[in-house]
Amino acid sequence: MKTIAISLLAALLGNAATPSPLVLLNGQQVTDAKTWTKLRRPEILRLFEDNVHGHVPQTRLPIRYETVSVEKNAFGGRAIRKQITVHFSKTADGPKMHMLIYAPAKSKGKVAAFLGLNFDGNHTVHADPGIRLAEVWRRDNQSQIRVTADESTRGSAASQWQVEKIIKEGFALVTIYRNDIEPDFATSFPYSVRALLQPAANAADWGAIGAWAWGLSRALDYLEKEPLIDSKKVAVFGHSRLGKAAMWAAAQDQRFAMAISNNSGQGGVALAHRKVGETIEHLNTAFPHWFSGNYKKFTNHQDDLPVDGHLLIALVAPRPAYVASAQEDNGADPQGEFEATAAAGEVYELFGKQGLAVKEMPLVHDPIMNTLGYHIRAGKHDVTAFDWEQYLKFATKQLR
Ligand code: GCU
Repeated sequence: MKTIAISLLAALLGNAATPSPLVLLNGQQVTDAKTWTKLRRPEILRLFEDNVHGHVPQTRLPIRYETVSVEKNAFGGRAIRKQITVHFSKTADGPKMHMLIYAPAKSKGKVAAFLGLNFDGNHTVHADPGIRLAEVWRRDNQSQIRVTADESTRGSAASQWQVEKIIKEGFALVTIYRNDIEPDFATSFPYSVRALLQPAANAADWGAIGAWAWGLSRALDYLEKEPLIDSKKVAVFGHSRLGKAAMWAAAQDQRFAMAISNNSGQGGVALAHRKVGETIEHLNTAFPHWFSGNYKKFTNHQDDLPVDGHLLIALVAPRPAYVASAQEDNGADPQGEFEATAAAGEVYELFGKQGLAVKEMPLVHDPIMNTLGYHIRAGKHDVTAFDWEQYLKFATKQLR
């Protein structure tokens, strides 16, 4: 009765209610973890596949791992650096992704790790001269070309990665250049792993965010064989569009132990139904390759979307998930990111876990760390040292 009243009020205000995590499509209420896992979770996953990200093609690839380099004395002996190439085809010059791994040098046994895609190449995450320069995609007049990155870009994203802090706290970091998996432009399909997995005629069945998430799962396949890392304790992390991909990876692949959304915004954990910040129309026009063809139906029809950000977080349950917003990140709708995290809490409670356990947005720089975590920090759309300090605290609490 209460739910009906709220939906009616929302409808009167012109704000369609977001779909409930705990009501099955047949209207039945979900009241226990078993029904969630057996019925509601698969239903929500399918709704995301059918309407947002598309379906992972079932093609099998002849995947092969190549250890390119191992340095036991990185950061003056504090870390081990490994560079592994994952080949997606039998030919050496075929499609591949390069993984950069840093693990603490002095640890007893395997360690928990953060795994995340980077925007501009592995060499940007730290100024370490031993990191191979990425083959980056760059716009050249009207076309996109692939060139070896400029030496001057080494370490250019170091503040967003905080590698030495991560090592100091006893965690490993694993990162991959997103464009190795799918270069990020509208006509990227021929250069994407998608072209290996699905016919060009079906390009719209599955988008770049789906492909990036797939790449994260292939990285985890490798980590299951990596002696430095405890593959059962891998937190998948991503900022912005790569946060959308990280959450979708954790939603589909339950081997990920934890998920972190840094400013993932619309198409990530924000609530499209609020109609605040970036619109689905903008996502579909500025980045037509990110989502599946079916997502285009929701341009100017956000109310018809049968899923939303809170359900993406709920798919991670009962595993720990952390959502971070930034005060000036209006496009990502911080209030919506918070409300989505709070709303996912009722699924965690079915498992006897604590969600955010508050209804109001916390103060700036005042993190909540239950099985669901959340903070809002001052400043712009970015990843900062403050964000990483919270992820390290949260992972220490949840993964150790
Ligand atoms: C754009 C896009 C966002 C995205 C962001 C990013 O701003 O509109 O949806 O999150 O890029 O990835 O930095």
